[in-house]
Amino acid sequence: MEKVNVAVVGATGAVGREMLKILEEKDFPFNSLKLFATEKSKGKKINFKGQQYTVDTIKKGSFTDVDIALFSIGSTPSKKLVPEVIKENVIVIDNSNAFRMDENVPLVVPEINPDDIYKHQGIIANPNCSTIQMVIALKPIYDQVGIERIVVSTYQAVSGTGKAAIDELEKQVTDFINARELKAEVYPHQIAFNVLPHIDIFFDNGYTREELKLIRESKKILTDSSLRITATAARIPVFYGHAESINIETKKEISPEELKELLADSPGIEVIDNPARDEYPLPTLSENNDKVMVGRIRKDFSTEKALNMWVVANNLRKGAALNAVQIAEKLIENPL
Ligand SMILES: NC(=O)c1ccc[n+]([C@@H]2O[C@H](COP(=O)([O-])OP(=O)(O)OC[C@H]3O[C@@H](n4cnc5c(N)ncnc54)[C@H](OP(=O)(O)O)[C@@H]3O)[C@@H](O)[C@H]2O)c1
Repeated sequence: MEKVNVAVVGATGAVGREMLKILEEKDFPFNSLKLFATEKSKGKKINFKGQQYTVDTIKKGSFTDVDIALFSIGSTPSKKLVPEVIKENVIVIDNSNAFRMDENVPLVVPEINPDDIYKHQGIIANPNCSTIQMVIALKPIYDQVGIERIVVSTYQAVSGTGKAAIDELEKQVTDFINARELKAEVYPHQIAFNVLPHIDIFFDNGYTREELKLIRESKKILTDSSLRITATAARIPVFYGHAESINIETKKEISPEELKELLADSPGIEVIDNPARDEYPLPTLSENNDKVMVGRIRKDFSTEKALNMWVVANNLRKGAALNAVQIAEKLIENPL
């Protein structure tokens, strides 16, 4: 692979830190590495491959010698900074919601639509974490038997909100054990020992932005605007790993056994489905597993041609950092 000059923007955040870990694990072919965050982190040292790198803030000219910039700083700053950065001939892979639904921006899961990467005009968007794991599990079903309708409920880890939320859950658990008052700052309610049916902001139609992201992004990635999907997204007191209960009505009949075989042969998926041995996907398993894990595959007896399944993946890795690094790898395997 060609060696490139890389920037990680948001290098001190939950996703940024994971990106650096993955670049290191993969021995990503780089010439130079630049790390950026806010003024608060300026001067911080981060160890990468045995060398100390200093975190800087973004200034005019920061990207002149950068080929690929991996952004994970949130929608508002991305909207402001990314259009300026791409003027410097940098390809930006952006983890935020800022450009995902822009028709000129490819929204990519490398296992599904890798060729869209090469249609970029400077920006490639990484989908939302809960979307990535769902579409990886749905794509083989969509292609093989067609999908009539999807009902998904998510159980999402606090790391999906970022490092402040990881700290908040840790602090609330400690305060609870020590009989101290619990303070909720990141979320509107206590997250420890609770479940919040609320991720991101509410719209007038009663849905949250997270639920609409799941619906809209899935339609864009599967290139089917008529796909019928409804979603409920909940935050649970788990540190890492999102879980999803997915009900799928298919166009053609497929048995649970056939579905297990189909998914086991599909890219990016591991089937873990042995109820007799209490084996099924768990957030704790996602710590050491970069696959989208699928289990509890069973027939939905309440209707014709429908199945249920339970899907778990590591939200910081396949749901964010790993997906972005895989896009970067494809870019340099096949430079334009
Ligand atoms: N967490 C997930 O599972 C996940 C999954 C998919 C997508 N995403 C998306 O990825 C993005 C980052 O999420 P996160 O979980 O890593 O959040 P986070 O832990 O809060 O980290 C945010 C990072 O962005 C930096 N930052 C914020 N504003 C900046 C600016 N104006 N200029 C430069 N750096 C700036 C922060 O720097 P300081 O440390 O200096 O404040 C920090 O490094 C969000 O858009 C999020 O929606 C997250």
